[in-house]
Amino acid sequence: MTGRGMSDTTALFTDAVDHYVQHRMAYPTDLIDVLIARFGIGPGTKVIDVGCGPGLLALPFARTGAEVLAIDPNGPMLEAGRTAAEAAGLTIDFQVRKAEDLDAADGPARLVTFGRSFHWTERERVLSLLEQVVEPDGGIAVIHEDLDQKAGTPTGQVIEAMKRDWIPDDLHRRNRAGHAEVLAASPFCKVERMVGSVPRIWTADQVLGQLLSTSYFNPGRLGDRRAAFEADLRARLARVAPEGVFEENLGLLALVATRPTG
Ligand SMILES: C[S@@+](CC[C@H](N)C(=O)[O-])C[C@H]1O[C@@H](n2cnc3c(N)ncnc32)[C@H](O)[C@@H]1O
Repeated sequence: MTGRGMSDTTALFTDAVDHYVQHRMAYPTDLIDVLIARFGIGPGTKVIDVGCGPGLLALPFARTGAEVLAIDPNGPMLEAGRTAAEAAGLTIDFQVRKAEDLDAADGPARLVTFGRSFHWTERERVLSLLEQVVEPDGGIAVIHEDLDQKAGTPTGQVIEAMKRDWIPDDLHRRNRAGHAEVLAASPFCKVERMVGSVPRIWTADQVLGQLLSTSYFNPGRLGDRRAAFEADLRARLARVAPEGVFEENLGLLALVATRPTG
């Protein structure tokens, strides 16, 4: 990533942390279990969670007894992960670092995960670094919401309209597309695509909380526009569902990438 620089992406979530912890959905257990089984994660194996935030992936992997290194350049996000791990009685090595700083000394790792974080990294460079970090039979999991599916839901349509009307630049679109192609062109070129879906019944308050947890609508970015933003969002949501409840499915995609022999 160039231009706006890594310092921008590092700071972007600072004002989102509280809302992130409260409103971002945990990953479905099924999906984590598939990855645990696929790579034999447990005692004696190492997992590196990159862009770990509050530890939504790091914690479940640590519960298996695996050694977990969780890195994130954003101190407050990492601190939220540390707090969650302590509350759960789990030992995780949290380090304030970027994906681009990984090196061979961090390995050997059986699995490296990117939960909603791959798009913030210099993807090609990071995959090349991971060649020295991931065990021969190990792999990489890039997990994120299915943005096409999400955009088709009633709340997704409102959120897309809010982005169009409220965000003056397209920062939020950075590197979202083409993860599978980037992986396929890397040393981890064998790419499996897994699709999951989580039922979600949420209220207008929760939609708002989820948006305030993002890099683009967090309180710091909205500043003194926050009240007007909230009023606009609530009005649009009320037009879609006057009773204020949305019953939807959240689609998830996991790209599991291994070396050709993996
Ligand atoms: C949307 S959050 C995802 C948090 C968590 N992994 C999850 O699944 O909920 C994205 C995270 O990526 C981090 N991030 C931004 N730039 C990064 C980089 N260059 N390397 C690693 N992480 C980065 C951010 O600080 C943020 O905590």
